[in-house]
Amino acid sequence: MNDSVLKNIPMFADLRDEILDKIFSLMQKRLYKRNNMILMEEDVGDTLFILNQGSVKITRLSDDGREVILSILGDGDFFGEMSIFDGESRSANVIALEDSEVFVLKRGDFLDLLEKHPKIAIALLQELAIRLRRSDQQIEGLSLSDAESRIAMSIIRLAEDLGVIKLGQVIIDNLPFQQDVANMAGTSRETVSRMLKLLERKGWIQRRGRQLIITNYDEFVKEFG
Ligand code: CMP
Repeated sequence: MNDSVLKNIPMFADLRDEILDKIFSLMQKRLYKRNNMILMEEDVGDTLFILNQGSVKITRLSDDGREVILSILGDGDFFGEMSIFDGESRSANVIALEDSEVFVLKRGDFLDLLEKHPKIAIALLQELAIRLRRSDQQIEGLSLSDAESRIAMSIIRLAEDLGVIKLGQVIIDNLPFQQDVANMAGTSRETVSRMLKLLERKGWIQRRGRQLIITNYDEFVKEFG
């Protein structure tokens, strides 16, 4: 492996090759199997994780013990930065949704990089602004709408986070399990199953195994976004 791996990580995309080499030498590679716990809420943490390949869910447990999914992250995303910046324990659980390869960077090395290369800091802040906007949307969506709309909005989030757009269609290759979609939308697995069938019957989506295709993404967002 070499620095070219890092070119696909948005936070590092603008850096020169020799800097990428240096960053690469500071990182340690780790592999996680599907369902492995990568970070646990309340643990002390001083490492940053960069997801080179795979997907993870960010979760917390509600008071009555249900899993609530705050976000799903995919290739090139980072996590674990919050404990690095505020010195508190991990704010959420991070669990692999599929076999995943991550790079781990120590707190001190990461903070050094941010000081030396403001481009990394700017890219990081951009991503944090995007995450805050999404969380705002999620709060609005969870408090205002019925279960069906919340499921449709969760599908839009998954399309944004994991989907690939092609000729107006969005293809999500590894759709999380129906229980995960339910935990994103704050509803039951049965309601998700019913809603997916309804959307399929009406031609909004197609499903093949764990692949989900939104047939006309712009129209879908207009209707449900
Ligand atoms: P940290 O608190 O160190 O460990 C858990 C990580 O989950 C956290 O850093 C963030 O990287 C990530 N995380 C927590 N909340 C959210 C959220 N709402 N959206 C995306 N990522 C999050």
